[in-house]
Amino acid sequence: MVDVGRHPNIELLTMCEVVEVKGYVGSFEVTLRKHPRYVTEDCTFCGECLQRCNVFAEDDFNVGRALRKAIYTPFLQSIPRQYVVDDKACIHFSEEGCEKCLEDCKKHAIDFSQTVEEETLHVGTVIAATGIRPYNPTGLYGYGDKRFPDVITSMELERMMSPEGPTNGKVIRPSTGERPGNVAFIQCAGSRSSKEGQLPYCSKLCCPNTVKNALLLKEPFPDIDIYVFHSGIRTSGNRQEKMFLEARRQGVIFVNAFPEVTEGHILTFSDPILGQDRPLQKQFDLVALAVGIVPAAQEMSNVLGVPLGKRGFIKEDNQLSPSSTPTSGIYFAGAVGSPSDIKQCIEQAGNAAMEVSKHFQKDFAELSPIIAKADTEKCTGCGKCGNHCLFGAIRIEDKVAVITEAMCRGCGNCLNACKFDAISIANYTEQQIKVQLIEALRKPEDKIIVFACHWCSYAGADFAGTSRLQYSPKTRIIKTMCSCRVRTDLIKYAFALGAPKVVVSGCHPGDCHYLDNNMFTKSRVTKLKEQLSSKGINPERLMLEWVSASEGQRFVETIRRMEQLEVDEDEIEMSKMIFSRPEKPKSRRKKVRLNPDRKST
Ligand code: FES
Repeated sequence: MVDVGRHPNIELLTMCEVVEVKGYVGSFEVTLRKHPRYVTEDCTFCGECLQRCNVFAEDDFNVGRALRKAIYTPFLQSIPRQYVVDDKACIHFSEEGCEKCLEDCKKHAIDFSQTVEEETLHVGTVIAATGIRPYNPTGLYGYGDKRFPDVITSMELERMMSPEGPTNGKVIRPSTGERPGNVAFIQCAGSRSSKEGQLPYCSKLCCPNTVKNALLLKEPFPDIDIYVFHSGIRTSGNRQEKMFLEARRQGVIFVNAFPEVTEGHILTFSDPILGQDRPLQKQFDLVALAVGIVPAAQEMSNVLGVPLGKRGFIKEDNQLSPSSTPTSGIYFAGAVGSPSDIKQCIEQAGNAAMEVSKHFQKDFAELSPIIAKADTEKCTGCGKCGNHCLFGAIRIEDKVAVITEAMCRGCGNCLNACKFDAISIANYTEQQIKVQLIEALRKPEDKIIVFACHWCSYAGADFAGTSRLQYSPKTRIIKTMCSCRVRTDLIKYAFALGAPKVVVSGCHPGDCHYLDNNMFTKSRVTKLKEQLSSKGINPERLMLEWVSASEGQRFVETIRRMEQLEVDEDEIEMSKMIFSRPEKPKSRRKKVRLNPDRKST
């Protein structure tokens, strides 16, 4: 942090909140809300103000286990070396109007007139690295219950063990202030659980952290009894495994069981190795819950417009580019993307910096050749395409759609909104796809048309091929970038050409490379199936299937299922007839009566 503060090319902005991010790669506008510090840069960190202030508030950095003054430094190494006034706690802002710190500051560095300010930065790229929050286990194992004051979290233990912590590095029982004679660690407290409000994933850090803390406790007090209750210790890699073996050598007892905590901090558990008839009971002086991590990504995701995965972490664009988001020019690093330890966070930061540096090597941004184009002649400026674009790439100017090419991802969802065929996707035009359909259905008998998205389903079909899995040679695959590009008109066109069966295939829900665009596909296919059935056509002839890049077998099974479907000639002819009827012409032109005197009949 000190190096960051001193670096000539880094401007460190503290006390700031990111309110809005607009623009695109190379030209982002970031609006910041700067909260007042009430202490100016003239502060020399002498500590006079701290001596004078006698208002106390809960210390967040010490997880509420200590108090700090209303004028304070968030933690010892915090940068910049200036105090900050907590305006919620400081009584200057109440009726009392205290100004003790102001009176005693020889540098006149206290400035209560500071207010919230907004500032806009112009930047080329953005990296989100907002980290994590510890999971709050209130209610689990009696944590937060007055009956169990000596049940604490791993974060609280960590702060206790720190020389700058609330107990100056001494581990004590909160109830008595004495050194504990024995300590129990309970792993996975609220993690790897499908229960409501708990974390379904492993946070990766808790096991090595517990092993480290057990060793640190054993160092000054070799006689202390330490039990670690777990459901499988996860210490990966050479160093962590060494630490685990060392902890066992020093007498730390690892028990594969989830205990129950009852009055008097008595833990009841069954040891599966001993296989005893009755559960064992042991009283502990201190119980530390190893809590997992919760991503601090929601606000960032809202501001940046980048998607979150099912578990609330920022979702990577694709696995080969693990720091990229679906929005070009926006990257992320660290535990905001997945549970990561310090080493992994550093690696990811390096990776994000490399991605960013790619943009600075040229004076221009390289755009994908697959982007949407608007035909200003056909466009009526209705704006529906813009509402369908989850990337905000389309705006209406002078009553026509204008596409910001740097923001367009080429998914093709906007096409579905346009009734006037005013939008096309370069290299995946309607005409190009129709030509493929015409060729594929030159002899339509038993053909299975598969629309497959580039990222998952097409790769899944490819994987089936490279794995030498057999599927019907009557399959004809048509690739689109996203399944949302498949307009219902295209499916109808395939039926009009005599296609007996059509499959629309995309990434699994939550895995679409264009935010949640595959959910649009789902609703369109569902509606079209209803239409088919209302017209007396078997809706089974249209199938929607999610296939990921590694699911070659699933792709093959999808084709086999479709192959087994019986479709008779009459039905094919009927759908051909229904869908080849010319549709009502779409026109933006207003109807003008040529002879206003002539009455319509
Ligand atoms: Fe595969 Fe959207 S990218 S469905």
